[in-house]
Amino acid sequence: MEISGSTGPTLIGKRIVLGVTGSIAAYKAVLLLRTLLREGAVVHVVMTQSATKFVTPLTFEVLSGHPVSTEVFEAHQEMKHLSLPEQADAIVIAPATANCLAKIALGLGDDLLSTMLLTAQCPLIVAPAMDGGMWTHPTVTEHVRTLRARGTVVVDPEEGPLASGRIGHGRLAEESRILEALQTALSPLRDWQGHRILVSAGPTQEPIDPVRFISNRSSGKMGYALAEAAQARGAQVVLVTGPTALPLPKGVEVVSVATAEEMTQALSMRLAWSSAVIMAAAVADFRPKYPASQKMKKQAQIDQTLDLERTTDILASLSAQRTTQLIVGFAAETCDLIAHAKDKLTAKGLDLIVANDVTTEGAGFGSEQNAATLIDREGAITELPLMPKRALADAILNRAHELLRTRESQQAPKPVVGGR
Ligand code: CTP
Repeated sequence: MEISGSTGPTLIGKRIVLGVTGSIAAYKAVLLLRTLLREGAVVHVVMTQSATKFVTPLTFEVLSGHPVSTEVFEAHQEMKHLSLPEQADAIVIAPATANCLAKIALGLGDDLLSTMLLTAQCPLIVAPAMDGGMWTHPTVTEHVRTLRARGTVVVDPEEGPLASGRIGHGRLAEESRILEALQTALSPLRDWQGHRILVSAGPTQEPIDPVRFISNRSSGKMGYALAEAAQARGAQVVLVTGPTALPLPKGVEVVSVATAEEMTQALSMRLAWSSAVIMAAAVADFRPKYPASQKMKKQAQIDQTLDLERTTDILASLSAQRTTQLIVGFAAETCDLIAHAKDKLTAKGLDLIVANDVTTEGAGFGSEQNAATLIDREGAITELPLMPKRALADAILNRAHELLRTRESQQAPKPVVGGR
């Protein structure tokens, strides 16, 4: 394959796992393997049992120069489902059958390839191939949507004659498209380069006395994931965080605060510096009105009630002071998710709100995953399924970046037609 404008091998030293599943297009994986090798990659091939019915493992073995793996349990072998993805820079599955897509979407692990994907941390690129009717089947569409939402790169199949003799949408994508997707996945996205993002995370603690406080269940994971993702995508990031037990993200300036008042100060003084604010912190809405300067004694305090007062609504106050900043807020809800989130979006003057139902099992406070619905000020709604918080962070940044771009294009001066 000729790559126009290519300046030489683009994958030198990259370790790629090429997964091949049982489709008639499996023979095209042989050609893809040769292209990857020509680009300088070290390729390990993993085949499903049904793929071996179309092409023999020996073909891939001879060409790649490495044994082909098909089984999770091979005698006297290391644990391939762990070692292969650990060492890989990327995994490419081409062709990927409808069954393969379903297994990935559902997290099933009944063979080496699918089990391996459950341990993989590296980019995953899948190039589906199947009959046209299968590709447009609602279940397949749903699985593809789930994969994309989790950050998997899906290289859409092409239209043309299919193995069934029909013409349809289902042919494995051209090698050049699969290669391009792999190259892009390996050269990380820097779309936030040049932007300065202020992220808040974690709970706040509002003192009752020197040893007690009012707080909430926020772990800070969502805000930290956002700070990490934005930094990885090229942004300069300041993370203003309430107390958490999390390791500090690398390459990010961290400002530690405890109370809502300290968080207000830390964010307000950096608002002018920023081009976007993402408010993931769970700020306490109330604080004790008269915090005691000495530890309150239980005997003396038996009938005492705690007077509370409202804290500053930081988001609303930032949004009132902003100039050009894009402002993203969160809405933690237990019922009427969309209605409450829309109300907050309007009341606080936000550009985007990330609404999450904190009662969803496996999502919300403390969990590694989250499911959210993004709503922008035009009312556009994007529902995102349950996914790791880091993947959700990327999805939020994708949407926020789109909004920034739209805003920039609307603000760009109109070309002068027929002027002097
Ligand atoms: N927020 C804030 N300052 C506060 C309270 C909340 O900036 N004092 C921000 C949160 O960081 C979040 C958004 O406002 O981005 C919505 O927070 P949420 O707790 O969902 O809603 P509240 O505004 O506190 O309203 P309610 O408790 O009535 O749901």
